[in-house]
Amino acid sequence: MCGITGIVSRNRINIGEILVKCGRKLTYRGYDSVGVAAVHNGVVDLRKDVGTIDEVNNQLGLSKMLGDRGITQLRWATYGAPTKVNAQPHFGCDEVLYGAHNGNLHNYYEYRQELIDAGHIVRSENDGELCVHAVDKYFEKTGDMFEAVRLSTHDLKGAFAYAVGRADTKEVYAVKMGSSLVAGVGTDETIVSSDLPSILPVTNQVIYLQDGEMVVLRPEGVKVYRVEDGKELDRTPEVSKVDAHAAEKGGFPHFMLKEINEQPTIVQDVMGLLQGAKCDEWLRMIEDANRVYLVACGSSHNAGIVGTYYFNRLAGLPLIPAIGGQFEPMYANTLDDDSLCVLVSQSGETKDILNILNLIRNGNRGKTLGVVNVIGSTLMFNADSYIPMGCGYEVSVPATKTYYSQTVIFAYLAAKLGERNGTLDPKESRAVINSLANDLPSMTQKAIDVAGIQTKELARTLIDVSDLYCLGYGFTDGVAREGALKIKEICYNHCEGMYSSEFKHGPLSIVTDGYPVIFVTTPEDSWMVINHINEIACRGGRTIIVGEREEKLTPYVAKSVDYLEVPKADLLLNPILDVIPLQLLSYFLSVDKGINPDLPRNLSKTLTVD
Ligand code: BG6
Repeated sequence: MCGITGIVSRNRINIGEILVKCGRKLTYRGYDSVGVAAVHNGVVDLRKDVGTIDEVNNQLGLSKMLGDRGITQLRWATYGAPTKVNAQPHFGCDEVLYGAHNGNLHNYYEYRQELIDAGHIVRSENDGELCVHAVDKYFEKTGDMFEAVRLSTHDLKGAFAYAVGRADTKEVYAVKMGSSLVAGVGTDETIVSSDLPSILPVTNQVIYLQDGEMVVLRPEGVKVYRVEDGKELDRTPEVSKVDAHAAEKGGFPHFMLKEINEQPTIVQDVMGLLQGAKCDEWLRMIEDANRVYLVACGSSHNAGIVGTYYFNRLAGLPLIPAIGGQFEPMYANTLDDDSLCVLVSQSGETKDILNILNLIRNGNRGKTLGVVNVIGSTLMFNADSYIPMGCGYEVSVPATKTYYSQTVIFAYLAAKLGERNGTLDPKESRAVINSLANDLPSMTQKAIDVAGIQTKELARTLIDVSDLYCLGYGFTDGVAREGALKIKEICYNHCEGMYSSEFKHGPLSIVTDGYPVIFVTTPEDSWMVINHINEIACRGGRTIIVGEREEKLTPYVAKSVDYLEVPKADLLLNPILDVIPLQLLSYFLSVDKGINPDLPRNLSKTLTVD
């Protein structure tokens, strides 16, 4: 996934400064390479190279580029290795047309050959360059930039968004065909971007574009058109309430640590949204369905696993979990008019999830309920209904507060559903909800305070460990998977998250003296986990226990070298609290290894590609 930003200004001659300032806000979308194309006195100055926006800016002086309009692109490589020539933006055949894209062209190979056969000078192996040549092709035919952009979409297959401009025209054009795109109307500039954070430094007057729409930026304003027939659409800007400072670190060394520490404060926002008027609709969608699937990727999938245990325990309802890319081959033919897909995606742009959304919408097979954090995202606009996650922008690539918010949402929905279907009596349901609303914030803060000390010390003992397991049982199944994912994502260790009762069926063979295995426990399941701990401890393995300190575990704690303690809390809060030590352990281990946890290599915050 990549990030594009296009700006047209009224009076600026130093467009590079604002292009870099806005582009930097998209770093979490891609940091393999970055480039800026700026138009000054009818000439396009295009500078790009591999590295983060700050590295390339220091090297090429991006923020000093002159001009009154231009485009920035931050790349997460898919087609074409992360090299200078494959970096974006790109020129068309001459150095007059320039542009950049985010997304995936599914007809990349055949279209690239078609353009070369037609005489186009294709310089790179990056599919984004073909979007620029497609505009070039139709500009040659029509001599009109608006028509050229509009018609260029006919040649391109896949999910993408792109922005283009010419040295000899003052506009910047952009198209949304499956990847996110937002426009902004400022006093001195108009702007289009892949995501809201890069609009906010210019304006909070935003227009969320829909698929099949294109936008024309002029110094005096923004116009939106339908790609299909070029008809102008009446789209009034709305005021975004997202806090522009949310994308600042607030005194923390990394966004990840800031976002972990925000978790206690987001509970009331999440609960406020859940106790709003729309909740009844969401609950009815789940109740009316004959089957409920929970489809997600990465950390959102791990949160969904935790959700399945809440739905079983509190509501006696089966929630069928599936990984985004797995859902179609595994379940598509089981969908019918009464099935419900709960699509969980903090970004609302993950292609693996949008593929399922489109599969259901195009095939009219059941309903979709989004669980989404980014307002204005494709999932938010196109699901039959959506539950807002209410935890503010998450900038760090590894998910923390959004995972946490999702587990709170599932616990709440399960308690409400249980009350409505009689699994819980109203008193029990209210007890769970009160515990979420009133105890969880302080317990989360306490967990952060306690774990902050223990995990820093423990991280140092794992610095040379290259391979470990993280095991969960029952409610902590999803938590252990999330802990393992965090360690993989930001420490570059191999850490497998799995069900602890499965470990003896094969993986146990990996245990030798000192081999580390993390156990994530709750008081309810520690009787079982004790067996699993013992199976490892008696073979010399090193056991690390995450959970409440419990008397019955004491004999085993003596054998296990480490204990990452979670404060004593209501049993049903344990699955939510147990993730805190794992978030902090991976954070401190990452920093100890000299890694920037916010921008782990090869990754991206949102993958809008298959
Ligand atoms: C990955 C991110 O690209 O996508 C993960 O690195 C995230 O942190 C996963 O959990 C799913 O993202 P989303 O936006 O669909 O929840």
